[in-house]
Amino acid sequence: MKIFISGMIPESGIEMLKKEGCEVEVWSGKQLSEKELIDKCKDADGYINVMTPVTANFLKQSSHLKVISTFSVGFNHIDLSTATQLGIPVGNTPDVLSNATADVAFLLMLNVSRKAFYNYSKIRTGNWNQGFDAVSHLGQELNGKTLGIFGMGRIGIKMAEKCKGAYGMNIIYHNRNRHEQAEKELGAVYVSFDELLKQSDILSLHAPLSDDNKGLFNKHVFEKMKPNAILVNTARGAMVNEEDLVEALKNQQIWGAGLDVTDPEPIPKDHPLLTMESVAITPHIGSATVEARNAMSDLCAKNILAGLKGEKLPCVVNPEVYK
Ligand code: DGY
Repeated sequence: MKIFISGMIPESGIEMLKKEGCEVEVWSGKQLSEKELIDKCKDADGYINVMTPVTANFLKQSSHLKVISTFSVGFNHIDLSTATQLGIPVGNTPDVLSNATADVAFLLMLNVSRKAFYNYSKIRTGNWNQGFDAVSHLGQELNGKTLGIFGMGRIGIKMAEKCKGAYGMNIIYHNRNRHEQAEKELGAVYVSFDELLKQSDILSLHAPLSDDNKGLFNKHVFEKMKPNAILVNTARGAMVNEEDLVEALKNQQIWGAGLDVTDPEPIPKDHPLLTMESVAITPHIGSATVEARNAMSDLCAKNILAGLKGEKLPCVVNPEVYK
């Protein structure tokens, strides 16, 4: 069986596939175009996708694929309905990256609250002009603040646990469904979207990108937030209107923003967000720990091996394919 992988991934999953007799090709160049991808997958039985768009056209031209696994928990880059129509099961890598991603949300929150990246860049560029300064570099404390979670899923609850444990924060959340565990164990309170905006000192985004939330965090939303609020996004950049975010920060409608995801990625070098005082940006490193990435690699291999055998994938995102 032939497996094509559209980017470098940790060896452990590749080894697992090889042990089962698969022939594996790993692409190590720059991101492939749709045409190149179709060509690469023309003899493949399985495909591990590393954040490359999986379009309807690609799927139609590659309908021989027995299985696809994305090296991510998010699957907004995959045309799932076409995959399902063509009978191709698609897998992803949930759970194993939740802790690592929540760590980055926490890191961004704390970083922004103390303007850490901004102050560090002042040192690096030779602009730390006065030793101890009693009236500048001032941040805000996090103890007892209210954390609002938009999307209380596997990653959202980890962020809530960390914030409750470290700072005794009050947790509120907005989600499609109520989250019993969060309510019982963390005392999290379900609120409407407007209440979430109104009450959150830190608003952390953890929902999957959808048509409903694309661009949702725009000027109308920022207007409803607290002036001391910090927006944290480790989900998908497209949920936030970055032009409106710049304006909201300039006008002090909100206090700061910590972003692990931007739209586009990479963010342009001259983007105004990069020089703002209470902004911290990291390059989509939510799941970038050795532990999480190894586990993602293994999970991709398990998805692929199950798909090749015609078994249900351990983590399938289009279960309708089995109906
Ligand atoms: C995910 O797993 O969805 C992360 O954002 C990495 O792409």
